[in-house]
Amino acid sequence: MLSHLIALHNGQTVPAIGLGTWQSEPNTSEIICAVEHGLKVGYRHIDCALYYGNEKEIGDGLRISGVPREEVFITSKLWGTYHRRVEECLDLTLAKLGTTYLDLYLIHWPIPLNPNGSDPLVPMLPNGKFDLDESRDIRDTWKAMEAMVKKGKVKAIGTSNFSEMMLEKILPTAEIIPAVNQLELHLYNPQLKLLDYLKSKKIVPQAYSPLGSTGAPLLTDESATEIAKKHNLKSTSDVLLGYLLKKDIVVLPKSMSPSRIESNLTGALEAYNLLTPEDIKILDGVAAGGKQNRFVMPPWGIDIGFDNWPASAT
Ligand SMILES: NC(=O)c1ccc[n+]([C@@H]2O[C@H](COP(=O)([O-])OP(=O)(O)OC[C@H]3O[C@@H](n4cnc5c(N)ncnc54)[C@H](OP(=O)(O)O)[C@@H]3O)[C@@H](O)[C@H]2O)c1
Repeated sequence: MLSHLIALHNGQTVPAIGLGTWQSEPNTSEIICAVEHGLKVGYRHIDCALYYGNEKEIGDGLRISGVPREEVFITSKLWGTYHRRVEECLDLTLAKLGTTYLDLYLIHWPIPLNPNGSDPLVPMLPNGKFDLDESRDIRDTWKAMEAMVKKGKVKAIGTSNFSEMMLEKILPTAEIIPAVNQLELHLYNPQLKLLDYLKSKKIVPQAYSPLGSTGAPLLTDESATEIAKKHNLKSTSDVLLGYLLKKDIVVLPKSMSPSRIESNLTGALEAYNLLTPEDIKILDGVAAGGKQNRFVMPPWGIDIGFDNWPASAT
């Protein structure tokens, strides 16, 4: 079993390596097998979202694995069209996963979407732009998230895709400080300034797309590959994950391949034990050296306050 844990400000701990589940097709046995295999080889943390459409299969994988529910840290996320119906969204997720509580519930994006628009999940305007619910105050969404902790339906709440600007909108009136902020964090998008800010607020960062997302484009990075060779690590991916772990960031690599699911867990821990402060310094400089890149940028149509968010995506 994975022993590397990171403490949250509410006294909970979260396994530092979680299994990502985005783009794992629903209605197939692949995702069920991936979850079952992940749990069998030692993962105790699964990152889910209503939006991914596969929470039923994830629940099936959990039950088939035989690992007791209470041994697994389960995260899910509130989707944009549910900002005015937080409990309804959470109840849908709980029913699909087949559990009575979540360990962590996140606001998926700080972007409320029209709940009565052209589509239940992705409402669009005739002009091709997202149909935003601009009159919804994000502070009210956060209050409704806090109510879920008080009801005992979730142990912790947090944010996802919140810049410092967006966090500053909820923190002054928050009764519960977000336990985590899940962000696109990797070698080419290290967000060092935002990480310092999160540390000052005791908010744990979680790295989504730690390998650069679909196709894992970071795997051919020269600096990371050289460091992998120097330490006789099996793969560049080990360095990409170990680099984030060294900075006390939770990593959420997604894979559907049994061998990669296993090697991401073991390789990340091996790299965590081997990477030196000099390696980290080199890796910290890669994005600033000309490789800065984001891979997940829905064109929401408004400024959400991130550095390096191209104008074409607003
Ligand atoms: N909060 C948010 O808005 C948000 C956004 C994006 C993602 N997430 C979460 O973060 C998780 C991870 O992000 P992600 O899925 O975008 O990307 P990722 O984990 O960085 O990369 C996944 C891709 O890398 C491949 N891969 C995995 N391990 C590999 C390895 N060792 N060697 C080579 N290729 C490898 C996978 O293919 P195979 O499956 O074929 O192995 C897949 O194509 C998601 O699944 C989701 O849970 C959250």
